[in-house]
Amino acid sequence: MSSRPQLAVANWKLNGDNALVETMLSALKQIDVGNAEVVVCPSFAYLALMGQQQKGFTLGGQNVSAHRKGAYTGEVSAQMLKDCGAQYVILGHSERRSIFAETDALIAEKFNVVVEQGLKPILCVGETERQRNDNQTEAVISAQILAIVETVGIKAFENAVVAYEPVWAIGTGKTATAQMAQDVHQFIRKLLSVYDETIAQAMPILYGGSVNAGNSVQLFAQKDIDGGLVGGASLKPEEFTAICQSFTGNA
Ligand code: PGA
Repeated sequence: MSSRPQLAVANWKLNGDNALVETMLSALKQIDVGNAEVVVCPSFAYLALMGQQQKGFTLGGQNVSAHRKGAYTGEVSAQMLKDCGAQYVILGHSERRSIFAETDALIAEKFNVVVEQGLKPILCVGETERQRNDNQTEAVISAQILAIVETVGIKAFENAVVAYEPVWAIGTGKTATAQMAQDVHQFIRKLLSVYDETIAQAMPILYGGSVNAGNSVQLFAQKDIDGGLVGGASLKPEEFTAICQSFTGNA
């Protein structure tokens, strides 16, 4: 059985309202997830409100500014996320990379400000369908991870989480099979172990991409899958709580 932390992370994206905040707060108060940690990443607008009522979950941001402070209208700093009670920050989500043109260099800058504040980065990586069909999966994942490691240094990964999210599986209902996901997770751990074996073995690696209550048990049971980053299903309190309860221990 793995001694790594197990996490179920809700990524609400640009969804949710006061009503969802209320229902989710009361649903999460009541569930028993054993040693697993539940992390909710709402829009910035609901962070402070949820931060004041954290019971049964911890809080994360979906994004952060690469700047620390100053004249950057519309930005939210790592320190502000921390002030609101966040402990995690999602970085490099494929939607940020593709829609908002975030580069590895920018993601590395954000990684640094997050770690500097004592927050935990959740670094997302993943290949497109075309890249998978062209047998480029490992090359793509490796380039995305190494661009960050080479810039911030492996020590900055001490409290980090990596989320493997194949782009073709995000919001599509097409999930990687448990074996496909396990293979990539194992590859990521091996890649990082070249830099630091202890950090690589201790680091949670989450799977994301159409995780739901019907596939989470099988996915989370894989040796190198330490939980999930959940989008659509995290907006349904009953389904999300079922996902949070699907850790069986990585036997
Ligand atoms: P999905 O999104 O669960 O809706 O596929 C996952 C994510 O983008 O983090």
